[in-house]
Amino acid sequence: MGHPRPFVGGNWKMNTDLASAVELAGNVAAGCSPFLERVDVAVFPPFPYLQAVGRTLGHDGVMLGAQDVFDQPRGAFTGEVGTEMLLDLNVGMVLIGHSERRHVIGEPDDLVNRKLRAALVAGLSATLCVGETMEQRKAGGTKPVNVGQLRAGLRGVPKEQMRQVTIAYEPVWAIGTGLTATPQDAETVHKVLRETLRDLYDEPIAESTRIQYGGSVSANNAEALFAQPDIDGFLVGGASLDADSFAAIVRAAADHG
Ligand code: PGA
Repeated sequence: MGHPRPFVGGNWKMNTDLASAVELAGNVAAGCSPFLERVDVAVFPPFPYLQAVGRTLGHDGVMLGAQDVFDQPRGAFTGEVGTEMLLDLNVGMVLIGHSERRHVIGEPDDLVNRKLRAALVAGLSATLCVGETMEQRKAGGTKPVNVGQLRAGLRGVPKEQMRQVTIAYEPVWAIGTGLTATPQDAETVHKVLRETLRDLYDEPIAESTRIQYGGSVSANNAEALFAQPDIDGFLVGGASLDADSFAAIVRAAADHG
């Protein structure tokens, strides 16, 4: 079977300011519009700019996502942002368990799982991120770490909600470092993740769930990565801050999807 419909996300992380976020959103919308018939595209701006970026994007083009969400809809959780707040701003999707949240902020697997389930119950789409560190890779842990994070992240997620879920494989050592997994290395992990989905659910879920690659994706390496049978799109950090580079990555997925 070929790829499911490709999905490319731009994770802006803790970058931009209000004016540059709005400008970037406008340029991304314009640059990606020729490809939206063939590719799903989303941007994930910082929380404070979601509303302004959402206004700039409008409703039926590039989708609006948030970089995180808490596992409760509202309440006494100082500093957190709940699902209802995101829905209020017309945010349709969230990143869950990004490696910076796991490894810099210290989010454990069970919190990642609770956040994912809360997002799905609220009706949001969610990208569950998994990936091994260089230490884990060197110690031969690539497969168990990724399979473990996927299984733990999806614990209690029913089959019916899987259409809201995307998986992102992001080797921690490749994020923001300029090091990219070779297409073959990435494919090896993507295949294992798809097999795990097959084990956890069934063949149709395994085949239809998008598995994005992330980690120093650029206009130069997107095509070779996307040529792999189990790479269905990208989660892009650094290169998503430049509308032309981001559009070139989206184009690579559109041309070869
Ligand atoms: P990068 O980030 O493209 O800058 O490596 C990817 C990510 O963290 O999603």
